[in-house]
Amino acid sequence: MNFQNKLLSLLADGRFHSGNELGEHLSISRTAVWKRIKSLRQSGLVIYSVKGKGYRITQTLELLERGKIFSYIDSDIKPLVGQITLHTEVDSTNQYLLNMIDHDYFHGHITLAEYQTEGRGRRGNAWVSPFASGICLSLGWHFDPAPEPLALVSLGTGVAVMRALGRVGISDAGLKWPNDVVWQYQKLGGTLIEMRAESAGPCNIVIGIGINYSFPAELNYSTGIDQPWVDIAKIQQPAVLRNKFTAILISEILRLIKNYAGRNYSGIIDEWRRYDCMKGKFAKLVMPGRTVSGLILGIDDNGALLMSVNDRMEKFNSGEISLRLQP
Ligand code: BTN
Repeated sequence: MNFQNKLLSLLADGRFHSGNELGEHLSISRTAVWKRIKSLRQSGLVIYSVKGKGYRITQTLELLERGKIFSYIDSDIKPLVGQITLHTEVDSTNQYLLNMIDHDYFHGHITLAEYQTEGRGRRGNAWVSPFASGICLSLGWHFDPAPEPLALVSLGTGVAVMRALGRVGISDAGLKWPNDVVWQYQKLGGTLIEMRAESAGPCNIVIGIGINYSFPAELNYSTGIDQPWVDIAKIQQPAVLRNKFTAILISEILRLIKNYAGRNYSGIIDEWRRYDCMKGKFAKLVMPGRTVSGLILGIDDNGALLMSVNDRMEKFNSGEISLRLQP
């Protein structure tokens, strides 16, 4: 365990710890403790300091552990797991895997990070997830030939996340096209699929999933999150363990991929429709150079969004669309 993680495990009990006490445990000076606290604050953690008492964290904190995660993965899925790499800090778990596409160990490689310095969201947005407060997970997979239709991988990833949430008793979350995970119209997570493919040839896919697990309550819009958010700890008390939920997510995503590779993916669209929380709602679609308002009708059999705009049904395929509920 590195210094940062050791420090966090000491603070994880939610009590005050003096700089001296922390320094003694870690065999570093009080100034060194302070420097590490400062760097943790820079990665989004809220750490209180009170003169004479010390430092304290109030949010639930459970660091990721490879052994625990692996033990919780469904036994029929374990053989599909290549490697699991945990990062205390990385630029982006998706980028980490994209950088290793040409290596043998890309396929089935799972990467997780406590903190991403350049986490990516869809539409070129940043993905903000304070240190150890979310689940930042990517999976690399080599398909040969490429899965058809490709759009279903993206919708299927959303379905896998919903299945994972359902398994831990969160059954009232929903999907907002194409793959935002929401709870009571607040963002709980999202997925970002990036791929490198040759035409009619093999295809390397990186599936990135970000879930808000237990964010500091003080997190606000100034931190770069531009919409209402919610986390698992607010939906469920006590919340499912972070390592356990990570393993369930991995199990569900790999189960989906396994079925894909076996061409057994009928039903994904229908299942996606069951989770659709925007159907029948008036909404705004923002695309580069165009914004439309209308009634959401659902998705067609290829996963395109259907919307009634001025009483005409329009179809949208672009990944550059964002949906907001009209007040
Ligand atoms: C979205 O905008 O809703 C998609 C968010 C996807 C975030 C995840 S976190 C793990 C992986 N690594 C990244 O840089 N992004 C994805």
